[in-house]
Amino acid sequence: MDIAQWRLVVGAAELAPSVHNTQPWRFVVRGEEALEVRADWDRQLQSLDRSGRQLRISCGAAVEYARLSLRAMGRDVRVDVLPVEDDPDLLALLTPAGERGAEPSELELVDAMARRHTDRGTYEPADLSDAQMDEWRNGVAGFGVWAHFVVSADDRVVVAATLSDAEQRQAADPSYVTEISRWTHRQQREDGVVGTPPAWPADRVSDMPLRDFSGRAEHPHPDSGEPPIVERDALLVLGTERDDPAAQIAAGRALAWLLLRITVDGLSGQPLGQALDDIDSRLRLAHDLRVVGHPQFLLRIGRGHSAAQSGRRGIATEVAAGPAPVVES
Ligand SMILES: Cc1cc2nc3c(=O)[nH]c(=O)nc-3n(C[C@H](O)[C@H](O)[C@H](O)COP(=O)(O)O)c2cc1C
Repeated sequence: MDIAQWRLVVGAAELAPSVHNTQPWRFVVRGEEALEVRADWDRQLQSLDRSGRQLRISCGAAVEYARLSLRAMGRDVRVDVLPVEDDPDLLALLTPAGERGAEPSELELVDAMARRHTDRGTYEPADLSDAQMDEWRNGVAGFGVWAHFVVSADDRVVVAATLSDAEQRQAADPSYVTEISRWTHRQQREDGVVGTPPAWPADRVSDMPLRDFSGRAEHPHPDSGEPPIVERDALLVLGTERDDPAAQIAAGRALAWLLLRITVDGLSGQPLGQALDDIDSRLRLAHDLRVVGHPQFLLRIGRGHSAAQSGRRGIATEVAAGPAPVVES
């Protein structure tokens, strides 16, 4: 691996999704032989994400993008998560091993990286087949993550109520409102989110409250006299057995895999983050949906049409001399 190849890997990792598009990572190429994915705590959302859970999920997604990019270069990759006990900022170390050609399924995922984006517009139904749902469940299980499809009307009400209550609490919290306005822009920038999502037709609403990036918990209420068409997208919860930093990084890796997989399948997704921003909402969701373990991510999925709206920092690849941190296994 030379530095030009490492730059390609870091360029791919940067395309990963991140909470509010904070891109809370640093990449260090250690002696041209390993890539360190480090947390950038200056980019942590102090109000929304005090525990750093969503920062770790975001960095976990970057880890998986980097790993897949190395696989596309025909390298086997060893991934050590939190490899050095006294260096908690070092979230993962990726070390290329011998040569092994990429599988077609891996190349498809890498090809989807530049196309994948968070689509906040309207969706047509995904019509997921049993085989597709099984494939997704098995795919995320490879990272130690479970997938739970929210299907029944009662369970959808649980999710909608959890989202709505969480968002009302957030809108009443000045630190949340200040923080989201800091990361929300009128136009695309190198980080942060564009505050005006793709317009929905006046006669159509989602049955789930999507995050209002103005921080006011406002949602369209069509007033055409006719009842609006209610969109009911596929809903998927990703979760883990434990809720420690390693599990959160694993959730991020599984999320990256899943979002690329749905892109290959011609589908779009949008996280419904409010339901998982605070521990009370997460516990409520786990209890009311009767799932065992810790919900880490909630997504709506369907056939979207909207274009990408987010930019990237294009960060310089840091190169550090000396060997990679010692990892014992
Ligand atoms: C942990 C996490 C939480 C997120 N929460 C939300 C959310 O609540 N609502 C939303 O519309 N997008 C959410 N996103 C998507 C990010 O805003 C998005 O990934 C980022 O703006 C980059 O844009 P892109 O996905 O189009 O590349 C979340 C992403 C992550 C990784």
